[in-house]
Amino acid sequence: MMPKVTVIGSTNLDITIQTSHFPDVGETMLADKVSRFAGGKGANQAVAATRLGADVTFIGAFGDDEAGNFLVGNLKNENIDLTFSQVIESHHTGTAYIISSSGNNLIIVDSGANQYITPSYIDSVQDVLRQSDIILLQLEISLETVWHICDLAYQYGVPVILNPAPSAIVPKEILHKISVITPNEHEILEIIDPEYQTNCINDVFSLLKEKVIMTNGEHGVLYYKDNEIISQPAYQVDVIDTTGAGDVFNGALATFWPRGLESAVSLANAASALSVTKLGAQSGSPTYQELKYFLQQHHG
Ligand code: RIB
Repeated sequence: MMPKVTVIGSTNLDITIQTSHFPDVGETMLADKVSRFAGGKGANQAVAATRLGADVTFIGAFGDDEAGNFLVGNLKNENIDLTFSQVIESHHTGTAYIISSSGNNLIIVDSGANQYITPSYIDSVQDVLRQSDIILLQLEISLETVWHICDLAYQYGVPVILNPAPSAIVPKEILHKISVITPNEHEILEIIDPEYQTNCINDVFSLLKEKVIMTNGEHGVLYYKDNEIISQPAYQVDVIDTTGAGDVFNGALATFWPRGLESAVSLANAASALSVTKLGAQSGSPTYQELKYFLQQHHG
């Protein structure tokens, strides 16, 4: 059975600049190559989920410009349902400026139309939320809207995976309402209300327990089970570009969520490893067949 995954979030045109090294403050340098890709954390997660077999609805906002047309076309080609996405008149599409060097990246996002997904718009499409098996969210749209979706999903009993990127403090009533939060190793200490005075990762696991899954780059994934923090190492692959690896992890986690925590984490860990072997946030996002083949190669 394909889970019905609703992704509500950002869609960006990624302008990726490949360089031999990251520039220092005040340095001018020449790019090795400049490429344009479809991106945005929400759209990347939607693509990851659909390629792995989920039935995906994406709720996002595109500008009424060439970039918006390109991104709409791209998501339609992936068979993602865009019925409830909007084109915002007289606004530009979100754009991410990415510097990629030796497999690492720096990203600055100009939100554009992404900021126009409002709580009242979500109210107008709330039947879609109610009919979802799982809802997948990130923090590249208005936080007010994200918290509102969490409230509605909780009322409807629909599980929510919240990927807190870019990081922000997540109110404790929201943490109570979601099923799982998936920070990376930097975000994990930035999502907790300062009132908890937490400055160590183990404390966050003690506080949130099974609710937190932490992606840890080349070190793999940490999650909590039976009162212990479990570490799943990363797969060793040739890294070309890590942009969007976290998004593939989240899209895969949502797709495989019905299989249970351990299995979903393990499949998501493998899918994100595969994704870093190609340039661009969506280009390396694997299909279910590619994931199966990769797992056969690594586990025999
Ligand atoms: O997670 C990677 C994504 O972050 C990029 O595709 C970029 O658009 C930014 O949203």
